[in-house]
Amino acid sequence: MIKFKILTAYPEMFPGSLNHSLIGKALKENIFKIDTINLHDFGIDNRKSIDDEPFGGGPGMILRPDVVEKALLSITNKNHLNTTKIYLTPSGTLLNQRKLGILSKLDEIIILCGRFEGIDQRAIDILGFEEVSIGDYVLAGGEIAAQVLLEGCIRLIPGVLGHPESLLEESFSNNLLEYPHYTRPQVWEDSQGNKHDVPEVLISGHHDNIKKWRKNKSVEKTKKVRTDLLIKREQKQD
Ligand code: ADE
Repeated sequence: MIKFKILTAYPEMFPGSLNHSLIGKALKENIFKIDTINLHDFGIDNRKSIDDEPFGGGPGMILRPDVVEKALLSITNKNHLNTTKIYLTPSGTLLNQRKLGILSKLDEIIILCGRFEGIDQRAIDILGFEEVSIGDYVLAGGEIAAQVLLEGCIRLIPGVLGHPESLLEESFSNNLLEYPHYTRPQVWEDSQGNKHDVPEVLISGHHDNIKKWRKNKSVEKTKKVRTDLLIKREQKQD
């Protein structure tokens, strides 16, 4: 069972979205476990502060390294070989499907959620956190980012998805975006009275042609919205 240990100033934000749908079912079935560690339990002095002003000046408050270390020492389990520590921050390396695949095979993932302006760099360097970002935009804190990372990871664990074969063809496998899907009604009449057909090949029953059509659609879509992926794909094939 994979264990996620979340260091956060807002433990009440968990499991949050992870308590629902197929991921919620996997949580109830103990396919994964989430423990939250409240950073406030490790606050310093009689005010129990966890943050302070930045040296050198500037806006916002910075999470103290001694608080992070104390919180980490409360959970570090030397028996775990397959473990990693992640600090979620917009200035980390970008999370991608490949990384999620690697993470989903670990026994334990410790995640530090930032709030405030940031965290003392020594906590990252000395305590060995890998900095990971979920995208080129800035959130108010790492808690939602952690839920994104967890959900992406958990759905890759065998037994979690209802249709595991859907993992094979989904977006980003082979650096392609997924082809478009269609369902009933076969002819959809919209509220303006316009009729819209499903692409004919999909109702032809001709599996080879459907496969080819889907592949072409994938390439077409990737070319249109994510040329960067297509370039990566071509480089891999060289
Ligand atoms: N915290 C704030 N913004 C973030 C992002 N883009 N990725 C990860 N953690 C964050």
